[in-house]
Amino acid sequence: MQLNVLILPGDGIGAEVTREAVKVLQQVAIKFHHQLSLTEGLLGGVAIHKTGTPLPQETIDLALQADATLMGAVGLPEFDQAPPEKRPEKGLLGIRKVLGVYANLRPVRSYKALLDSSPLKNHLVDGTDMIIVRELTGGIYYGTPRGIHQDGNETRAINTMTYSSSEIARVSRMAFHLARNRRKKVTSVDKSNVLENSQLWRKVVVEIAAEFPDVALDHILVDNCAMQLILNPRRFDILLTENMFGDILSDEGAVLAGSIGMLPSASIGDRKPSGAWVGLYEPVHGSAPDIAGQNKANPFGAIGSVAAMLEYSFGLNEEAAAVNAAVESVLNSGQVTADLNGTATTSEVGEACRTSLRLVQ
Ligand code: IPM
Ligand code: MG
Repeated sequence: MQLNVLILPGDGIGAEVTREAVKVLQQVAIKFHHQLSLTEGLLGGVAIHKTGTPLPQETIDLALQADATLMGAVGLPEFDQAPPEKRPEKGLLGIRKVLGVYANLRPVRSYKALLDSSPLKNHLVDGTDMIIVRELTGGIYYGTPRGIHQDGNETRAINTMTYSSSEIARVSRMAFHLARNRRKKVTSVDKSNVLENSQLWRKVVVEIAAEFPDVALDHILVDNCAMQLILNPRRFDILLTENMFGDILSDEGAVLAGSIGMLPSASIGDRKPSGAWVGLYEPVHGSAPDIAGQNKANPFGAIGSVAAMLEYSFGLNEEAAAVNAAVESVLNSGQVTADLNGTATTSEVGEACRTSLRLVQ
């Protein structure tokens, strides 16, 4: 199969982790006889440095042409005081919007080998296996009006949380479809005791649930969800929520996995005419500028994102399973980075994954 993939390393540790992930992808191509065509583009702070904007038109064009995009991370402290349009994060929000990847799938699972890396008690975390389905192209991240204005003697900031029923319906459908291949349970997270947005969210999710009578639905308020994620993570199968709640809850979920460096993600839009999903794949972690360039970053989230790409954008389930098996075997061997209390470097972990891929039949 021909795999045309755009790589957007981005900022900070993004370059290091995508380098390892790309080499894993190349190993997959060799092992399973696929033709890989890679292009690289600019996104985030590096793009601002080189072109003056966090999302150059050329990157948009490349992403629209590619079958799938693998991204590292964006964000650099030097832009902390910059206006919103000149921030690296704006580039990421922009490419999500341009590609229309409205469903962000963030699998959170516990690995036996990493149980002691979590500050939580092993018996609570063991067996955790959920996918957080985060709405990604709507809500308060994109709503207008927004901005900071002078209001008499006061300065006032405004953001707008807004959802339409069709935005809620499409991401809900995605969540229910995913649940069908799992434990058939969707938990929808909202703040419907306070927010009109959440009242609509809940109403639409209930309507969509009627199309999936074989899938159980329950609702949980976001504050209680934050608590239940830690108290009883095994109760969750598919956790469906809006953009900002999903951002916050997925970082909390990372504690269950042992480190935020473990979490991959797949951002999916509608199907292309070929039947493949439009996809943007990125680890959940950020650019971690404090450890950038030190070969210390955990590449498993990026490597897991390659597995997600193989599965969702290319339908290559066997290849995806081989990558996930390689990750698991390296975890079991104890070759892990400092965030997991190990001593391996980023490149050693990547190399170990490739070796394992070569060996697995
Ligand atoms: C994430 C990140 C981004 C987000 C930032 C970098 C804009 O935190 O992907 O979770 O908030 O979506
Ligand atoms: Mg986040």
